[in-house]
Amino acid sequence: MDKHTFHDKTFRLFLPNETIEADIDRLAARMNADYEGSDDIPIFICVLNGAIMFTASMMKRLNFTAELMSIKMSSYQGTNSTGTVLIPMGLTGDVSGRRVIIFEDIVDTGNTIVALKELLYSKGATDVRICTMLLKPDVYCKPDKIDYVAREIPNAFIVGYGLDYDEHGRNLKDIYVIDE
Ligand code: IMP
Ligand code: MG
Repeated sequence: MDKHTFHDKTFRLFLPNETIEADIDRLAARMNADYEGSDDIPIFICVLNGAIMFTASMMKRLNFTAELMSIKMSSYQGTNSTGTVLIPMGLTGDVSGRRVIIFEDIVDTGNTIVALKELLYSKGATDVRICTMLLKPDVYCKPDKIDYVAREIPNAFIVGYGLDYDEHGRNLKDIYVIDE
């Protein structure tokens, strides 16, 4: 299907699943090379709900030992960032003294990942890396380096592969963009 309607908006196909999977193949190969042979075990942090599919896809390709934790964060209402980052569910484990890799679906303004990075350092993490499926470079306004990016996209609202429009559209295997 090339179009989907969720609530009051229609979305058209933007990134077919094959493109997303090929991007994730490349990104996972890079991460495997970086972490190969390292002797401490990193913690993956899946930022719920949006990053659930991307985190699972990365984990299937990563071949070094890691632990998995989650946190639930939200800042979007409809198709806009509210600028306020809420944490409806806190970290599911202890990160003190540990290296951490954050898995995020999309980095937009950067408010979410920067807030999470600060939280992790305040809880004693020794090193925090950011891995995101998508980045909107035209909107991102923070000095923090985004260590792993599978794909950069223009500033448009998208759904699918975990990403939602008011909770709908997360289960699409392709990514769709708002049709305006
Ligand atoms: P940021 O805090 O502005 O970087 O926004 C990041 C969060 O907003 C992501 O974790 C997503 O949940 C959500 N988000 C940003 N852009 C989109 C989009 O185009 N579609 C759906 N959710 C988005
Ligand atoms: Mg999210």
